[in-house]
Amino acid sequence: MSTNQKWLLGVLGDPIEHSCSPAMMQAAFASLHLSGRYDAYRVTSGQLGHAVRGLVALGFTGCNVTIPHKEAVCAYMDVVDETALRVGAVNTVVVREGKLYGYNTDGRGYVRSLCAEVDAPLHQRDVLILGAGGAAKGIVHAVVEQLSPRSLTIANRTQERAMVLAAQVPGVCHTLPWEAVQEAVSAYGLIINTTSIGMGESFAEQPCCLRHVRPGTIVSDIVYRPAVTPWLLEAERRGALIHGGIGMLVHQGALALQLWLEARGCTHTPPVATMRDAVLRAVTL
Ligand code: ATR
Repeated sequence: MSTNQKWLLGVLGDPIEHSCSPAMMQAAFASLHLSGRYDAYRVTSGQLGHAVRGLVALGFTGCNVTIPHKEAVCAYMDVVDETALRVGAVNTVVVREGKLYGYNTDGRGYVRSLCAEVDAPLHQRDVLILGAGGAAKGIVHAVVEQLSPRSLTIANRTQERAMVLAAQVPGVCHTLPWEAVQEAVSAYGLIINTTSIGMGESFAEQPCCLRHVRPGTIVSDIVYRPAVTPWLLEAERRGALIHGGIGMLVHQGALALQLWLEARGCTHTPPVATMRDAVLRAVTL
């Protein structure tokens, strides 16, 4: 497809009404002078296979996939790339010559955002990951591969899930009981909340108590609505460097857009700053 042909893309999920991805991608299209549409599609679990196969029939370039379909969608791919296979989840689909290729840009997007937004050395830190769900999986693998942590500890409310995830990176990952986090916080130089605590109705809740956080520790929250959570404000008050969730959303989107552009032989670079502005506007709406 050349750049002046119409691009059809979208995000599949359920619920999907509050997704910022359409605003972010439409802004990117406009900035790159590409003509196309990126819309949000509510797809139930029972219809996922039909929806994904329909991308080929309808001439889509690809799509993003979000909660709750990132794992289930793997079954409908013709090819799943190595990272997505390791994580067990696909967030980006590319259609090439009638075949569906699945990728996962979440973890790489997260680390890119951390590197771009935190003004401190990131390698060789003792890392604490809060949560062991879908989001944690991508982040754990990317952090281990790209930041060479001195240690990586996973704490999750349901400890068995933390153990299963830690076992995927043997020799590097440890687990910590959820109840022990508060006292252990001072041992870590990078603390990442991958749980949904602090988002939406749990706005007032905090992923963990930060009373013992060391000044200079990086505290990172993947929750992006609000852009800066009360937990991050508390961390900042205690002298930590803070990193919010908007960057992960933007960079996973930029990496997905890059895959679609490359698949169509385009040499454009995703306009990260424009995408970020669009997300910030959408989040504060
Ligand atoms: P996602 O794909 O967004 O990561 P998920 O797989 O449902 O969604 O994972 C949500 C994560 O947030 C899990 O680690 C979950 O802990 P459990 O495995 O014990 O369910 C965590 N989480 C959500 N609400 C929580 C709460 N109120 N307290 C502690 N952990 C919570």
